[in-house]
Amino acid sequence: MHSSKITGLGFYVPKTIVTNQDLEKMFDTSDAWITERSGIKERRFFTEGKDTVSNMGARAATIALENAKLTPKDIDFIIFATLSPDYNFPGAGVLLQRELPFREIGALDIRTQCTGFIYALSIADQFIKTGMYQNILVVGAEVQSNIFEMSTRGRDFAVLFGDGAGAAVVQRTKGEGSKILSTHLHSEGKYAEDLMLEHPGSKLKNRMTPQLISEGKHLPFMRGNMVFKHAVTRFSEVIDECLQANNYKIEDIDMLVPHQANLRISKAVQDKLNLPDEKVYNNIQKYGNTTAATIPICLSELTTAKQVKEGDLVCLAAFGSGFTWASALIRW
Ligand code: COA
Repeated sequence: MHSSKITGLGFYVPKTIVTNQDLEKMFDTSDAWITERSGIKERRFFTEGKDTVSNMGARAATIALENAKLTPKDIDFIIFATLSPDYNFPGAGVLLQRELPFREIGALDIRTQCTGFIYALSIADQFIKTGMYQNILVVGAEVQSNIFEMSTRGRDFAVLFGDGAGAAVVQRTKGEGSKILSTHLHSEGKYAEDLMLEHPGSKLKNRMTPQLISEGKHLPFMRGNMVFKHAVTRFSEVIDECLQANNYKIEDIDMLVPHQANLRISKAVQDKLNLPDEKVYNNIQKYGNTTAATIPICLSELTTAKQVKEGDLVCLAAFGSGFTWASALIRW
């Protein structure tokens, strides 16, 4: 049977840096509150007319393709994870398909928010294992700075989230060495309303009304404490699950790359699993939570800095809206 491996990575973040001090000037918050609660110091915000989810994805993909020594023509399938596509429909995948000289290949959008990249990676792995495709481009990209309100009402989200894109080229491999060992996907829809953006949706005859806007129902909603507690539990469970599936122990992990939701969540998971600092990668301080983009951005930074190298055991784990949670274990 075939296996798959990540052969190229790339990322793009918008040029505009927004610091906690910048946010202090816009609404009632403080650098101390944001740093203590989330670890975030700054994030990137897109520039209208310049950055879109699809073109940021294309910039990240261009670097990933160069690193994999492939051209767009070599790609057999696109999987695009995002909660913030350019349009309600069609999806971001087809918009990426026209950004670069790809063939008329399939393009699939994934809508599992913070776990989107691992879900997408898992799908890529399955398509390669069955022999259907050889080279798949997996992208996670978000423009979120225009979803929330830069106000005290919108501050829950405004301090935590940012914009950015990451991409990975996933290729068929026959070797016993570097490969994706397994992926594990979960959901528990009973918590759907605890982290959601409800409107505009298809439940109402009038998808958007002045009343919905005045009530703030067009803004994302989150039960922060609830998300926090479930995240710590599910992250630990799903990391254990991928280790057990491959007969490894926690000490075998060379690098854990947690979805960058909140530095306190990552630290709580790290403490629970008793992992040393050098084995857990975090960059939320610089970019905030970029949802589907956090993991490929982390992987891209890690491989560029040679902090992850061939032969390492790398664990990816994520938790987010749905609730969904997922992990992947990779022999790099
Ligand atoms: N700036 C300043 N104060 C803020 C604030 C902000 N951005 N947001 C909330 N506050 C205030 C609240 O009004 C509250 O004040 P009060 O005690 O006077 O009522 C106080 O800070 C504590 O609020 P609370 O919501 O209980 O804070 P918390 O310690 O739970 O932290 C989160 C809030 C959102 C940072 C935290 O719950 C969290 O990280 N949750 C997970 C979020 C996440 O990761 N989501 C994405 C999942 S992928």
